Amino acid sequence: MSRSPSALPLVFVHAFPMGPKMWTRQVSAITGRQVLAPPLPGFDGHPRVAEPTMDAYARDVLASLDRAGIERAIFCGLSLGGYVVFGILRQALDRVGGLILADTRTTIDTPERLAARVRSIETVRRAGPPAIAEEMGPGLVSADTHANRPAVDAEIRSLIEAQSADAIADGLQAMMTRPDSAAVLTTVRVPALIIVGADDGITPVSDARSMQQAIPQSRLVIIPGVGHMSNLEAPETFNQALLTFLRDSGI
Ligand code: MLT
Repeated sequence: MSRSPSALPLVFVHAFPMGPKMWTRQVSAITGRQVLAPPLPGFDGHPRVAEPTMDAYARDVLASLDRAGIERAIFCGLSLGGYVVFGILRQALDRVGGLILADTRTTIDTPERLAARVRSIETVRRAGPPAIAEEMGPGLVSADTHANRPAVDAEIRSLIEAQSADAIADGLQAMMTRPDSAAVLTTVRVPALIIVGADDGITPVSDARSMQQAIPQSRLVIIPGVGHMSNLEAPETFNQALLTFLRDSGI
């Protein structure tokens, strides 16, 4: 299908620690508009940044828009991808024409989570990405996905193992220092969709509801039987929510 001159480009921002291939089924479902799925610094061999922070990651995504000649876009971020989209909102609100926030949250890490991240940096430096896949894998998807869609577990493992220890350690560092982003959401005046797996144990439904309350006129879709990696666990339902949102909001 040819591109509609009025359809805003769509930019997918990936989760930790996976790279943009996690969006393959979404990218191929989008027609009639430009799509970008850039790797964050360090991921898929993309150059690292000197200081891994959420704002540096956001700048890097905005630079990829500049290179593609894109002024304004719809941003879809899942989990870490959402944290990066909050950075884009802080830096360049006028470049955001629409938002899809999936399985993410505006709050900072608890002390327990910070301590776990320090341990994960040590683990990835010592034992490499397979150890991180082993550590994170069980918590990323729902019990239903584990039992009935084992191919998703395998896909997640291979997405994580494809990344370097440096990319993973940098990503952990950037997540540890991210600021609270609740306030920036209240500045959003563009159409917004929030998606969450009903069984997401990392960024639960309560986080999604808080984001929906912060953004005027946002809609919330809760996908049953699905955990944190909603786009991989239920790609058809995720895509249907995404395509319906794009159609209804006319962006
Ligand atoms: C992610 O999926 O990007 C991470 O699990 C997010 C996090 O650990 O906070």
